[in-house]
Amino acid sequence: MRADIVIGMQWGDEGKGKVVDYIAPLYTSIVRFNGGPNAGHTVIADGRSFTFHHIPAGAFMRKKLLIAPGMLVNPEILNEEIESLKKVASEFYLKIDIRTSLITPAEVELDKKIEDLKGASSIGTTLRGIGPAYSSKALRISPRVSDVLSGNFDASIYKKLYNIEFDFGAWVQKAKKTLSGYAFDVREELLKSLENGEKVLFESAQGTLLDPIYGTYPYVTSSNTTSAYAFVSSGIPFKYAGKVIGVLKAYTTRVGKGPMPSEMPESLAKTVRESGKEYGATTGRPRRIGWLDLPALKYAKEINGIDEAFITKLDVLSGLNELKVAVTYAIDGKETDRFPSPEVLERAQPVYQSLEPIPKLGTDDISHIIKNGWISAPVQMKNYVDFIEENLRVKVSYVSLGAERERTVKVD
Ligand code: GDP
Ligand code: IMO
Ligand code: MG
Repeated sequence: MRADIVIGMQWGDEGKGKVVDYIAPLYTSIVRFNGGPNAGHTVIADGRSFTFHHIPAGAFMRKKLLIAPGMLVNPEILNEEIESLKKVASEFYLKIDIRTSLITPAEVELDKKIEDLKGASSIGTTLRGIGPAYSSKALRISPRVSDVLSGNFDASIYKKLYNIEFDFGAWVQKAKKTLSGYAFDVREELLKSLENGEKVLFESAQGTLLDPIYGTYPYVTSSNTTSAYAFVSSGIPFKYAGKVIGVLKAYTTRVGKGPMPSEMPESLAKTVRESGKEYGATTGRPRRIGWLDLPALKYAKEINGIDEAFITKLDVLSGLNELKVAVTYAIDGKETDRFPSPEVLERAQPVYQSLEPIPKLGTDDISHIIKNGWISAPVQMKNYVDFIEENLRVKVSYVSLGAERERTVKVD
C-alpha cells in the first residue's frame, strides 16, 4: 500500500495536528519524521485536548504511533509527554526507532547560548536544542536511542567541545528508563506494514518555509520539512509514495524572526491573533499574522508535490471588515508570482487582491454548515476557497471551521 504525507505549506502551525487526527481513521500507522519537541500539534476531540510534541497526533484514534529516526527526541520532554498522554488516552501503541538521535541538556543550553551570541540577528528558535542537536548528529557525536540502551557511549567529547557540564550518567539512566519500553526497529515495521497492504500516514512538523534548504534561511529550522524527507528519515523506498496533503491556514502566521511579506499591520493582526488564539503551542509566543500569500503557497506546492489541500481556520477570517490575498510580489519595480531567495524576499512588496469579506459566523452558523454541507456555506466563503483552488491549481478537499474534530466540512 501507499504512504501519504501531511505537510505544512506555510511557516508551521497550520493545524497539522487537527488534520492528522481527522484523517487518521484511513491509516494503520502515523509516523512523525522530522524535527523534535520544537513542534506543537494540537488535537481537540471527544472533549479532550492534547498538544503533541514528539508523539504523532493519531493517539486519540488508537493508531500505531511511530517515530522515525530522522527526528530528534528529548527523553525528558518525551517522558512528560507520555505521562500527560496517559491521562487522556488510556492505551497507545508507541515505537521509537533505535537510530533516533537524542537531545541532551548540553544542546538545549547551547541553543540559548547561540541565540544570545547572535543578539539582534537571533532566529527566535523554540530553545529546544534543535539546531545544536542536529549539528551534533552531523558531527557524529550524538547519543542515539541504541547508545543509551547499550550504555556504550563516551560523553567526554561533549564536555571538551561544548564545555557544558551536566551529569551525563544520571541523564543516561533517566533516558534509558523512558526509552526502553518503546525502542524498536521502526523502519522494518513500516516496510512490513506497507508490504502487507496497510496504509501509512507521515506527519510532518513545521512548515515548508522553515525548511533549512528551501525555506527563508537563516530563519528556518534544522531538519527538512518537505515531503521527500519522509522517505529519507524513515528508510522507506520512494516507490511507496502516495498522495501529499498540504495543510494551509486560511491566513499566514509565523513565530520567530524572518521575512513575511504579507504581514498585517499590528492593529488588525491583534484581532486575528485573539480570535484565532494565535499563540505558540510549544512556547506560548504570540504568532505574527499576515494575509494569505499565494506566491509562497505556489512554491510550497511545487516543492512538495501537493496533491490536495486542507484549509484550516477559515472561521477566523469571518467577520473581518476586509479580506485580502497577496497574489504577487513587487520586487525592485517588477511584479512576479515566483517566490524569490530569502534576501530578495526581504524587499518583496505584496500586491493584494481584495475579495468580498466573509460575514461573521457564530457557533450556530458553523453547526448549520457542518450539518448541511459545504453547499450551505456563505457565498463569500465559497468564493474564497474557489479563488485559492483556481490560483493554486490544487483541489481543496476539506475546510476546517473550528479547532474541534467535528468542525470539518468536505468540499464537494
Ligand atoms: P500544527 O503545529 O500545524 O499542528 O498547529 P498548532 O496546533 O500549533 O496550531 C493550530 C491551532 O489552531 C491549534 O490551537 C488548533 O487547535 C487550532 N485549530 C486548528 N484548526 C482550526 C480551525 O479550523 N479553526 C480554529 N479556530 N482553530 C483551529
Ligand atoms: P509545528 O510543527 C512554528 C520556528 C521557530 C523559529 C525557527 C527555528 O508546531 O508547526 P527551532 O527551535 O526549530 O530551531 O526554531 O523555526 N519553528 C516553528 N514555528 N511551528 C513549529 O512547529 C515550529 N518549529 C520551529 O519559531 O522561528
Ligand atoms: Mg504547532
